[in-house]
Amino acid sequence: MNVKTLKNKIINGDSLKELKKIPDETFDLIFADPPYNLQLKKELSRPDRSKVDAVNDKWDQFESFKSYDEFTFEWLKECKRILKKDGTIWAIGSYHNIFRVGTTIQNHFGSIFRIWYHSCCFKKIR
Ligand SMILES: C[S@@+](CC[C@H](N)C(=O)[O-])C[C@H]1O[C@@H](n2cnc3c(N)ncnc32)[C@H](O)[C@@H]1O
Repeated sequence: MNVKTLKNKIINGDSLKELKKIPDETFDLIFADPPYNLQLKKELSRPDRSKVDAVNDKWDQFESFKSYDEFTFEWLKECKRILKKDGTIWAIGSYHNIFRVGTTIQNHFGSIFRIWYHSCCFKKIR
């Protein structure tokens, strides 16, 4: 894939396949908002008591933490490859997944990554 063809483009596809087509060390910044593995068993509300809708889509369902971790490792591995050496990745998550994402980052990639944790939205389970 030619880097110039990526500018101002949205690629609609499976990131695990599409990321592999991008050359090494292409980007300065990656902004990721991956599935949170957010399978609610109870009602979840925000601090203002509004209800958080469960994510029931198939793309958010993983058989186990292990399979979620494997998925996380796969997309992060490609992100690290296509990120420039002095690049940055921002990953968003909730308390459902962000510590797992952080663990994968620390175990495999060191400290070049940044984590953005949604502390605002998921404070209380009622
Ligand atoms: C937490 S949501 C992020 C939503 C996004 N911030 C937005 O505003 O649309 C996770 C998104 O990842 C997408 N997704 C899940 N698995 C994917 C995959 N393998 N490749 C590409 N996108 C995927 C889902 O369709 C979903 O839109």
